[in-house]
Amino acid sequence: MAEKKLKVLFASAEVMPFAKTGGLGDVAGALPKALNAIGCQCIVAMPLYGGIKRDGLEKTKLTIAVTLANSTYQATVFKSKLDAKTEIYFIAQQELFSRPNPYGTPAGDYPDNDARFTFFNRAVLELCRALRFKPDVIHVNDWHLGLVPVFLKNLPKRDYLNGAKSVLSLHNLAYQGLFPKESFRLCNLPDNLFGKSGVEMYGQLAFLKSGILFADALTAVSPTYAKEILAPELGFGLEKILQKRGKSLKGILNGIDPEEWNPETDRLIPHRYSRKNIAGKAKCRAALLDKFNLSNNPAWPVVGIVSRLIEQKGFDMVARAAEEMMKMDLYLVALGTGQPEYEEFFRGLQLMHPQKVGLQIGYDNAVAHQIEAGSDLFLMPSKFEPCGLNQMYSLAYGTVPIVRATGGLKDSVANWQPASRKGTGFVFKEASAPALLGALKKAVAAFANKKQWAKLVDNGMQQDFTWHKSAKLYLQLYKKVLT
Ligand code: ADP
Ligand code: GLC
Repeated sequence: MAEKKLKVLFASAEVMPFAKTGGLGDVAGALPKALNAIGCQCIVAMPLYGGIKRDGLEKTKLTIAVTLANSTYQATVFKSKLDAKTEIYFIAQQELFSRPNPYGTPAGDYPDNDARFTFFNRAVLELCRALRFKPDVIHVNDWHLGLVPVFLKNLPKRDYLNGAKSVLSLHNLAYQGLFPKESFRLCNLPDNLFGKSGVEMYGQLAFLKSGILFADALTAVSPTYAKEILAPELGFGLEKILQKRGKSLKGILNGIDPEEWNPETDRLIPHRYSRKNIAGKAKCRAALLDKFNLSNNPAWPVVGIVSRLIEQKGFDMVARAAEEMMKMDLYLVALGTGQPEYEEFFRGLQLMHPQKVGLQIGYDNAVAHQIEAGSDLFLMPSKFEPCGLNQMYSLAYGTVPIVRATGGLKDSVANWQPASRKGTGFVFKEASAPALLGALKKAVAAFANKKQWAKLVDNGMQQDFTWHKSAKLYLQLYKKVLT
């Protein structure tokens, strides 16, 4: 007899291709498809932000009501598909979500994110009622959904929730969803939950901490990050609670979605190529250099950067290394947006070295693909990196990553060993400009040896980071949590 399909409701504040501010969107757009491909029945839920076009969505007749403190908010539900098997439901609540972005504007977070996300957490549960979808597991992501495990454990039992277990994935502990004590009344939870063994931290309502405490299982987005967050340096004040929950925490490396990131089929790059037929990559490089008004000296490698320009990503190190870097024979092509000081740094560098540096400040998915395809090297000197996706995209696109040994970067890139011709990139340990420059110098030297370079590129392209393997690990985890 065929095994009964495990029912999973997967909820995220961002899901590609509908909304994305970082890797969370990529993961939420891909993992549910991979789960359905291996026999789960996984549906997805996200808020309907104003920036999402309603044209392609189907309006359902479903309605949802959620009470926050004394105010009841009504919502409607829209529907679409991520692929033939994967349905996605959008919670439409005009007052809270009809704004262009998920979390805020460049001027700062929306001031009512406490209400917006408390609403969304409750709405996810109400969606089960409206759909008559009895989940075995509700899989939630990051602080935005940290209250779901609390509601599941503390609200009166509801038939439609089927006694569902909760799994919380930790993508980045630097963002914790902390709100003033007064926000707690929005949750309509018993007063005694506002304490250390409940939803409070530092006298505030703490979404992520709550999720960590109440979820039935926790995952971190790479095995190394799962260990790193148990120590103060990367635990961001949550290390003690995480240590207590250690047995329920598992690191599972993210994957990449081959429908989005595959040089053989990618429509966003000017020439397609593969491991067996790599000629198109040199053409992508030529097109990229041309786009950024740079010459094409074949002896110089193109170093790509695509990133949120924030503290986490190590751009202070890049700034300190910049002068030395600019003495080297290379091109630097960067795409990013974020903290003004890093945007200024890149603008200044480009003005000073217009023959070496190409720059686009902003968010542009097509250009991100073109940089992955057209670069020879890809730089990710992160201070910490829970998983990181760009280094995996780089490997798939035959672009050699230079990374710092942290989190998922450590788990996905192996340092090049010229003697044994093993390895897929350049890995440095210390978070310092000299360590970064050391790795970059090795990479530039390796680029000069064409035979070795071809082997290094090929090693990377052989790696399989598609979601299939990791989806199986999630399925195992769901089964474990249900026994
Ligand atoms: P994080 O989620 O911390 O930003 P990840 O490496 O997991 O880091 O994911 C970042 C994702 O966002 C990648 O898909 C990357 O291509 C994309 N990205 C980052 N900055 C930009 C940008 N300026 N334009 C387009 N895509 C970007
Ligand atoms: C976070 C992390 C990043 C990770 C992504 C997806 O944004 O900063 O390292 O790849 O989540 O899990």
